[in-house]
Amino acid sequence: MVNALIKLLKPFPWFKRFNAKITYELLAKHIPAQDWQFMNYGYVPTQEEPELKTTCTFTKQVYPLQMYHYLALHTDLKNKQVLEVGSGRGGGARYLAENFQPKQYIGLDLAQSAVDLANKIHQLPNLKYIQGSAEKLPFPPASQDVVINVESCHSYGRVDIFLSEVERVLKPGGYLLLVDFRSEYKMDDFRKLLKETKLTLLKEEDISQRVIQSIEAVNPDKVKRIEELIPKRWQKLFSDFAGVVGSRFYNTLKDGSRSYYRFVLHKPS
Ligand SMILES: C[S@@+](CC[C@H](N)C(=O)[O-])C[C@H]1O[C@@H](n2cnc3c(N)ncnc32)[C@H](O)[C@@H]1O
Repeated sequence: MVNALIKLLKPFPWFKRFNAKITYELLAKHIPAQDWQFMNYGYVPTQEEPELKTTCTFTKQVYPLQMYHYLALHTDLKNKQVLEVGSGRGGGARYLAENFQPKQYIGLDLAQSAVDLANKIHQLPNLKYIQGSAEKLPFPPASQDVVINVESCHSYGRVDIFLSEVERVLKPGGYLLLVDFRSEYKMDDFRKLLKETKLTLLKEEDISQRVIQSIEAVNPDKVKRIEELIPKRWQKLFSDFAGVVGSRFYNTLKDGSRSYYRFVLHKPS
């Protein structure tokens, strides 16, 4: 009954916004575990990608951290003004702000409780987290060198508005680095939207297999953590949301009816 209702309401932008806001507000408020800093499904690099030799000690969530690391390698963040939209619990922002030397890194998220948690856990001079919406970025035109977006834009009410906001706030010569999933036909729609922007699509990669490998690698720990953190009656629902092996998310990624992509876009000078 509840699932049928959600399916019915899902196409409405107001419902998508409401759903994202409620979900991520509740998660950060009720599970403030400071060692849970990333909420993406993670990434296993290809053999051609340079090995990550990190001395990073603030997290054990290596695969989700790698999602950020290998995305950020597509441009130079050093001394740049970087905006991350959908920064969640802040681990990705912290890792990039600490290791890629941007001048300033701002993590923006719809959920105030996630922003508060991130500001509490991660403190660096070149890093801050603010509340805001991807569909109304609180920045002047041409103010950002790089916009980063990790596994977030699938839940926006109007992703076309988000893309026009990115186009507006990027400086000429700036970059949008984005990773996210969609069902196969929705990925075609998303690609069309990207092509309708004035941004140039420099790179597009299907990274589904890399994400599947990550889900499988972390599964035993993730299942254990869910049992520790989540009340028993919510564990099944949360396991689906967390994409454990055997969940609908994992199965659809595995059978190809859903895919996970990495995009690199550039605003012409
Ligand atoms: C799956 S989590 C990923 C978080 C983070 N990027 C990571 O990889 O750990 C998606 C995040 O997008 C945020 N989000 C959803 N809709 C948003 C919107 N309209 N504006 C800004 N953030 C939004 C959510 O609150 C959530 O923190």
